[in-house]
Amino acid sequence: MKRWYYLIVAVAFIAGGIISIAIAQPDNVTIDNKYPKKIKTPVILSHKLHVDKGVACTECHHTWKKEEAPAPKKCAECHKADDKGTTGLKNAYHSNCIDCHKELKSAGKPTGPTVKCSECHTSK
Ligand code: HEC
Ligand code: HEC
Ligand code: HEC
Ligand code: HEC
Repeated sequence: MKRWYYLIVAVAFIAGGIISIAIAQPDNVTIDNKYPKKIKTPVILSHKLHVDKGVACTECHHTWKKEEAPAPKKCAECHKADDKGTTGLKNAYHSNCIDCHKELKSAGKPTGPTVKCSECHTSK
């Protein structure tokens, strides 16, 4: 009987490992959506840097519940590229990224770009 127990524990452990690999975020993601008119270059976001600095997944993936879905949805599934309002795709990204950086900056903490376009729009 005991051996079965160990086998089940081992299987559960391996399965858990595979699941956590499956939902692990890539080190870098290239944010490159289609817009009616694409003006700037795509943005390469370092997931790794943000996660290492303690930024929670849900600071960006604000609707994601780990227990409900293995991976977060794309922002563009809800925020639309042809919408110029505050919750349109471009403004959703800008508010998410820039507002956090600005808040940290005013708190005197190290942070990312708050103004300079080329510090985020780095890709060719
Ligand atoms: C903190 C990072 C950050 C900064 C700083 C930033 N952006 Fe962006 N911007 C983004 C992200 C992320 C996207 C989403 C890119 C996508 O969806 O392809 C975006 C999208 C855009 C878009 C829509 C996509 C396109 O190429 O047409 C425009 C226009 C834009 N930014 C202009 C600017 C301008 C102008 C500045 C400087 C005044 C700027 N951004 C500064 C992160 C930033
Ligand atoms: C600083 C903001 C931010 C943080 C923090 C963040 N993500 Fe992301 N993540 C993004 C953006 C932006 C994308 C690109 C998807 C999009 O633009 O719709 C993305 C993409 C992803 C993808 C899809 C990758 C792909 O290749 O399509 C996964 C999976 C993911 N994130 C998981 C996570 C997990 C898990 C965490 C926490 C450990 C996390 N993210 C933390 C912003 C973030
Ligand atoms: C499942 C749908 C969904 C997804 C996916 C989603 N959002 Fe949202 N988001 C919303 C809705 C709905 C609102 C407006 C209501 C609210 O404030 O919750 C919103 C509001 C926001 C706001 C506040 C805008 C403002 O100033 O009023 C930001 C910023 C934002 N989202 C960024 C993002 C980013 C960045 C991503 C991807 C990493 C993302 N969202 C993914 C549905 C979504
Ligand atoms: C909730 C807060 C938060 C959000 C949201 C956020 N960032 Fe950051 N960002 C940080 C912090 C913290 C740092 C690291 C400061 C440091 O060096 O310690 C950082 C650093 C950066 C840097 C500088 C990286 C470097 O190599 O020095 C870039 C570029 C950047 N962020 C882009 C983005 C983009 C693009 C988004 C939106 C998709 C985003 N950030 C969203 C908090 C945030």
